[in-house]
This record gives sequence, structure tokens and C-alpha cells, in this order.
Amino acid sequence: MKIAVFGAGYVGLVTGACFADLGHDVVVRDIVEQRIDALRRGEVPIHEEGLVELIDRNRERLSFTTEVAEAVEGAEVVYVAVGTPPTYSGDADLSAVWTVVDELPVSDDRIVLAMKSTVPVGTGRTVRLRLDDRGLANVGYVSNPEFTAEGTAVRDFMHPDRIVIGAFEDGDGDVVERLHEGIDAPVIRADVASAEMIKLAANAALVTRISFINEIANVCEATGADVLKVAEGIGLDRRIGPSFLRAGIGFGGSCFPKDSLALKQLAANSGYNFQLLNAVIEVNELQKRRVVGKLERKLGPLRGKKIALLGLAFKPGTDDMREAPSLVLAGRLHAEGAEVSAWDPVADGSVMLDGVRIADSALEALDGADAAVLVTEWPELRDLDWSAAGSRMRNRLLVDGRNMLDPDELRALGFEYEGIGRA
Ligand SMILES: NC(=O)c1ccc[n+]([C@@H]2O[C@H](COP(=O)([O-])OP(=O)(O)OC[C@H]3O[C@@H](n4cnc5c(N)ncnc54)[C@H](O)[C@@H]3O)[C@@H](O)[C@H]2O)c1
Repeated sequence: MKIAVFGAGYVGLVTGACFADLGHDVVVRDIVEQRIDALRRGEVPIHEEGLVELIDRNRERLSFTTEVAEAVEGAEVVYVAVGTPPTYSGDADLSAVWTVVDELPVSDDRIVLAMKSTVPVGTGRTVRLRLDDRGLANVGYVSNPEFTAEGTAVRDFMHPDRIVIGAFEDGDGDVVERLHEGIDAPVIRADVASAEMIKLAANAALVTRISFINEIANVCEATGADVLKVAEGIGLDRRIGPSFLRAGIGFGGSCFPKDSLALKQLAANSGYNFQLLNAVIEVNELQKRRVVGKLERKLGPLRGKKIALLGLAFKPGTDDMREAPSLVLAGRLHAEGAEVSAWDPVADGSVMLDGVRIADSALEALDGADAAVLVTEWPELRDLDWSAAGSRMRNRLLVDGRNMLDPDELRALGFEYEGIGRA
């Protein structure tokens, strides 16, 4: 089939490249010219494992443009994969989605508009009305939310746990289902509102687990238990399962924070106070800030102290720093008067971090540091020569915000080791 994808970001590029790999002809459209020019030159503007190879392998079936007409010419399905960031009120900003809907040209052929962007429940219905107002009754609408995780997005797209398709017209849902032929996964057919809610509820369930285990970790710290053992012990219970039970300094990224806030506001706008989700969000905010308390307990006031942040991306395997805990940490440390240095193997901290010294290597970031905070669990940090690291620091204090390192090994190297919820 011929597909147009609007948005050449993390989701749009992976979607486009994967559909091309499944044998479809794909045109990806973005409004940022430099991005499209780079893609045409063969440069991939984001860090995502396997994406460069996938785009390379499918050059013949994959093209890039800034032109709407070029993208939708002959397309049977138009995917929307534009950003839906939070507005000041916490609701999702759908302005980019509306632009795409309004840009669709009138055509005699039936096309299906498929929503990959994460949108509030009810968006499909409003899009449907707007299409009808524009006389585009022959444009079908399907909600086909995306569940991929950055860092493993290509694998997640090709081997998903499920494919969710919500349609007003069964025939439009069938078209989107056919697009996925070659992917072995259960397909959930639903009404549009339920498909929209599946995406928001899935993310809410995941963040609830994260905040839950983080609170257990905090109680472990207060009582002398070890959250790693506790997570292992509860994760083996089949009713609970082991995933998303890793305690740390909280979740970030471009999806979890914004989608939980959007669901909270969606509920509030509908007259329901989603108390559990409110608490999950609050716990996460406090969790990021607890690191500063840990540093203060060891170092006293942080004014003039040198703190190194190791890892800036919100998780390993991506260069994405949107809503990353590193941003909150850097801001809080700065406010306390600390001097902050930072290193990440791929994320470019200089774009989002003011007043932070960005180092070329982890060891350089640690030069003269009074403490280090492991923020992102990059394998490079597990493999770091921690003995050399210690000798670069003024004071060997390490807060392992991801419980990645072995406390005994670090202590043997003379470090004072602080994990999250560890005995
Ligand atoms: N990032 C993820 O892992 C992930 C996972 C699941 C769902 N989502 C959802 O997918 C959507 C996209 O997320 P993302 O991370 O890819 O965002 P992104 O910011 O990386 O990419 C969005 C792209 O859309 C482009 N754009 C804006 N207006 C446009 C228009 N009118 N036509 C064409 N392109 C336009 C932007 O220039 C940008 O390149 C969001 O709703 C997000 O919540 C993201």
C-alpha cells in the first residue's frame, strides 16, 4: 500500500521505516526543512537502535518531503505522528494534529486518516466532525495508538504485544489491519474512544507501577529492607509479574509524564478526580528531588559543591531528554548553589541545560567532584573504570539513581555508595 506519515520524529520515523520494511511505499512529511534535508542525505536526526540500517535498507520504498501534496498523492492511509505536548493547563496540545487535519486536500478517493499520536479520548470524534465540516466524508478515521518505547522502538514496532485498531467504519479498520500483515501479534479491534483510552490507560498502569515501587523503596530506606530483594520477591508472583519494578529516581521522557497529566486532566475535565493518578504524579516529582536531600545529608549545604550528573537522557538507548529527571536535578542543584557537570554518551545536554558544564567523557565530568549521581543506566556507566573515576573525584560519594552498580564493589574502591531503597 501507499502510506503517508506526517511527522518525522521518534514515532513517525520508526513507523515509516517499519512500514517500508513490511513492503509498503512510504512518504514521510515534516514541516522542519533541515530535518527532511538531513533525511534525504541519509542522516537520521534521532538516536534509535536499528533505525539507520532500516532506513538505509528501504531507501527505494521510503522518501521524505515537506510538501503535503507530495506526501498524500495516491496515499491510501495517512498516518498522524505529530507531537502532542502538554499545554500550560496540562491538557494535550492538539494544534499540530488540527493542522494535519486541515491540510488534507480534498480528493475523490477514499483515504484513511490513522492517528498514531497520543490524544485525549474524544479526539477521534472531534476529528470526524471537523473532516465532515470540510466536506471530507470520504476520509475514514482510525485510532491506531503506538506503544513502542524509545531505545527499543524498531523491535517493539515489529514485535508488538498487540496492535490496537479503533475505527468508526469496519472497512477502515480492515485497511489498517492489512497494513500490519507480516507482524505476528494479537489485534484488538475497538471503537475509537476505547482505542484512545487503551493507550492512556496502558501508560497510566506503567507509571503507577513505577511510583509504587519507588514508594516501596522509600519505605525500605526508612526500615532497613532492600528494594531489589523485595522487587524480586514480589515479581515472581504471577499475579504481579517482574516488569516495571525497578526503583529509581523517577520516570521522565516525552510520554509518561505528559500522558499521565493528560489523563488526569481529561478525567478532571469530565468531572472525575483521578486520585490514584494524582498521587502517582506527585510521588514521581518528589522522587526526583529526594536525590538532593541524599546529597545534602552527606555533604551539608551544596553551595559551591561540585556535583557530576552521569547520564542525561531520560533512559538509555535514546538521545531524548524531554522531561528527563536530569533536567529537574540540574535545576535543583543549581538552585542550591552547586556547580554541576554532566556527561551523556548521546544526548546533547548543551541544548537543554543552562549553566551546566558538559564534559566529553564520564571521567572528565567527575574531575574534582564532591559527588556523582548516576542518572541514566547507560551500559557505558556499568563498564566505567570506577577506580579511575574515584581518583578523579575530590570526594568519593556516589548516588546510584538507578540501582545499577554493585554497592560492595564500589565500597571496596573507597566509595560511599547510596542507592535507592537499598539496605
Ligand atoms: N516518543 C515515543 O516513544 C512515543 C511513543 C508512543 C506514542 N508517542 C506519541 O507519538 C506522538 C509523536 O511523538 P514523537 O516523540 O515522535 O514526537 P516528535 O516531537 O519527536 O516528532 C513530531 C514531529 O512532527 C513534526 N510536525 C509537527 N507538525 C507537523 C505537520 N503539520 N506535518 C508534519 N509534521 C509535523 C515535528 O516537526 C516533529 O518532527 C506524540 O503524540 C507522542 O505522545 C510517542
